[in-house]
Amino acid sequence: MDITPVAGALGAEISGIDLGAPLSDAVIADIRSALLEFGVVFFHDQDFDASAHKSLARRFGEIFVHPFFVPGDDPEIVNIIREPTDTSIVGQDWHADTQMVPQPPMGAILYGVDVPAYGGDTLFANQYLAYEALSDGMKRMLDGLRAVNSDRLVAGPGHGRSDNRATKARQDADWRETYNLHPVVRTHPETGRKALFVNHSYSVGLENMSEDESRPLLAWLMDWGHRPEFTCRFRWRPGSVAFWDNRCTKHLAIDDSHRVRRVMRRVQIAGDTPS
Ligand code: SIN
Repeated sequence: MDITPVAGALGAEISGIDLGAPLSDAVIADIRSALLEFGVVFFHDQDFDASAHKSLARRFGEIFVHPFFVPGDDPEIVNIIREPTDTSIVGQDWHADTQMVPQPPMGAILYGVDVPAYGGDTLFANQYLAYEALSDGMKRMLDGLRAVNSDRLVAGPGHGRSDNRATKARQDADWRETYNLHPVVRTHPETGRKALFVNHSYSVGLENMSEDESRPLLAWLMDWGHRPEFTCRFRWRPGSVAFWDNRCTKHLAIDDSHRVRRVMRRVQIAGDTPS
């Protein structure tokens, strides 16, 4: 297998592997090690169905069932669909996935089923670099600080995000907000490196402060986390795959594939309690 970095900050393309075929433990270990090194790994020209997709994900951990998307036939699969008439899309703000749960997913494997000829790229940002580039004073200030992470900006009645979107988050009256405190700077359980862990979709405040008081620092940290020098951009082809480490990266789906259908299939992998 060949590994080619795609940017200075993060991301590498892996070639020479058929992800739909049975893979040896050694190959899985090599993919995991590339994921830990590069934060997100990309593959092209893959061809596997939902069942093989789930089998692949299970080689890296248990499958995480998404808590607020309206489920399709299989709750372990999220189909992320943009219809030509949609005016908003899933993941259009910078985020780490599902950060409001007690144990956010360790990662996700996203497969491009039907992708536009151009547009609809995905951006990724390295949150180790975002943390490491902070001043010593800021690092000291963030030490021990926790953020409130909630899904109220992206699900529930009244948030409106799903109104003009094929892939729906729950908006029914029985939906209840999920929120949890997580460290603003988490330590990656496998690499031991520190990473910034706040994002626009889920982080709504800082512990023991009002949301108004929290906003300036939180907003600055969230914007800082995707400065261009911390990012890479992935251009999809049908059959491309992105596998990201959700513990040390953020991502954003670019909302620029207007009037074109885009279909992605995602399986998430369970994670641990951030510390
Ligand atoms: C996501 O946020 O997981 C979706 C990314 C994409 O559709 O490119």
